[in-house]
Amino acid sequence: MQFKGNTDQSSARYWDDLAELYQKETRISTNDFHYGPLLPGDSILQLLPNIGKNSAGIFQCLEVGAGAGQNSIFLAKQGAQCIATDISEEQLAHGRKLAKKEKAEVDFRRVSMDAMGDLGKFDLIHSTYALPFSADPQKVIADAAAMLKPGGTLLLTTGHPLYAGEWLDIGDGEEGLFLPDYFQPDPDVRMSLDDKTMSAAQYRPVSTIAEWIHSAGLVIERLLEPAPMPIPEMSEGEILENVPYDSPGWRELYPQLARIPVVVIFKCSLAK
Ligand SMILES: C[S@@+](CC[C@H](N)C(=O)[O-])C[C@H]1O[C@@H](n2cnc3c(N)ncnc32)[C@H](O)[C@@H]1O
Repeated sequence: MQFKGNTDQSSARYWDDLAELYQKETRISTNDFHYGPLLPGDSILQLLPNIGKNSAGIFQCLEVGAGAGQNSIFLAKQGAQCIATDISEEQLAHGRKLAKKEKAEVDFRRVSMDAMGDLGKFDLIHSTYALPFSADPQKVIADAAAMLKPGGTLLLTTGHPLYAGEWLDIGDGEEGLFLPDYFQPDPDVRMSLDDKTMSAAQYRPVSTIAEWIHSAGLVIERLLEPAPMPIPEMSEGEILENVPYDSPGWRELYPQLARIPVVVIFKCSLAK
């Protein structure tokens, strides 16, 4: 099957097919805000704005490519009013069930990040590892910027371009990263479990994303390339408490994750 690029239809089918396995195999905490596999959560990174009531009333949040919306559930439990959007009804169904179990109120909506339109005005727009699946990531950032309230924050976590590299055996039991082209990385094409649909993550140079943020009228307040938590030195209890996103598959990749960043995080606000 030839890959022609993600469309809303192919993404929805791919993620609907994967949702059950993804939510079963990955432990995603709702007691912290996560930034990706094996990474410290916000209780350590401290990037979230203050989620108290703002001067105009309730603190309003929008999540883009939310999956089951664990981050929105966490924010709702802190008192924020949350909308969680995703293209996959199956991912959203997991989210609705989880929110009910956690007694958290989150408005789960099927919305493509590539056609968000105007969903309102928000104090915080956040997205964790969804942007690489967009057909037009520059527009996603511009649309998000247009929905920020003055003083609002865009907290964007996306795939790091180094992650597009391939680990090769370089002899003597050593592995090295081979990245054929940092500026034009090949898309990471994946087949759905039922072998019927393809989806691809497209990584971009950090400077490209920074330019998109700049042209959307935003300024970058913080840029992080976080290293994973020191999993091999931690007890299972410590991992459970301090690592909000974990799975057996990602643990196997720890030796690689410890050497290159898996995500880049941009904390942005509207330029004055
Ligand atoms: C790697 S998962 C991350 C989910 C969630 N943010 C998390 O951290 O668990 C990527 C998510 O992006 C969603 N997605 C893919 N294409 C999308 C699109 N065009 N619009 C909205 N969501 C999309 C998928 O359905 C999936 O839930």
